[in-house]
Amino acid sequence: MTPDQLPQRLVVGISGSSAPQYGIALLEALRELPGIESHLILSQSAHRTIELETNLVAAEVEALADVVYAPDDFAASVSSGSFITAGMAIVPCSMGTLGAIAQGLTPSLLARAAGVMLKERRRLVLVPRETPLSLIHLRNMVAVTEAGATVLPPVPAFYTAPRSVEDLVAHTVGKILDQFAISHDLFQRWTTPRGE
Ligand SMILES: Cc1cc2nc3c(=O)[nH]c(=O)nc-3n(C[C@H](O)[C@H](O)[C@H](O)COP(=O)(O)O)c2cc1C
Repeated sequence: MTPDQLPQRLVVGISGSSAPQYGIALLEALRELPGIESHLILSQSAHRTIELETNLVAAEVEALADVVYAPDDFAASVSSGSFITAGMAIVPCSMGTLGAIAQGLTPSLLARAAGVMLKERRRLVLVPRETPLSLIHLRNMVAVTEAGATVLPPVPAFYTAPRSVEDLVAHTVGKILDQFAISHDLFQRWTTPRGE
């Protein structure tokens, strides 16, 4: 295979904030897309939120990914910029992981891999899950944005006429895929209303 024939690798991080459903839905969407390899890092805390907030266990979430890394394995390929990827999405991103990335700290493989994306100028999408936000959270979001990341809060749109929680989750997953120019039909796109 030549480099342009290799599958695109997308690193998916799931950290320990509420709503691991978003990251799980992203992995499910990636499974349906040919030519994209998902590389998953579940933080230690994500194991707990998956157990508490979904009817899955961490191993079932890991089974959705093509490649899985242990949260403390700094020898993992995604720990190095020499491992080529299309970028990384952390979905959901806890305030703890956001803060570590903003400060350039590497308490976990998740934060290290995100730092690699920034230094290599690759796409890094962070989906924060916290409300309300403190000044520290907001400043950390500014810092990661200045460093090149995209902060993409899971804010629902209503022009898509959602009918279920799954529709709301699919909208956010679609917005994440848009960031990587990965085509999908997860939600109806806005067009000029008829008659205008
Ligand atoms: C059930 C549960 C829900 C949580 N929800 C959030 C949340 O929405 N946002 C957040 O920043 N942290 C949340 N936390 C706290 C994080 O798990 C904690 O800060 C942890 O250190 C994050 O580690 P990680 O970023 O390495 O996954 C939650 C914890 C639990 C147990």
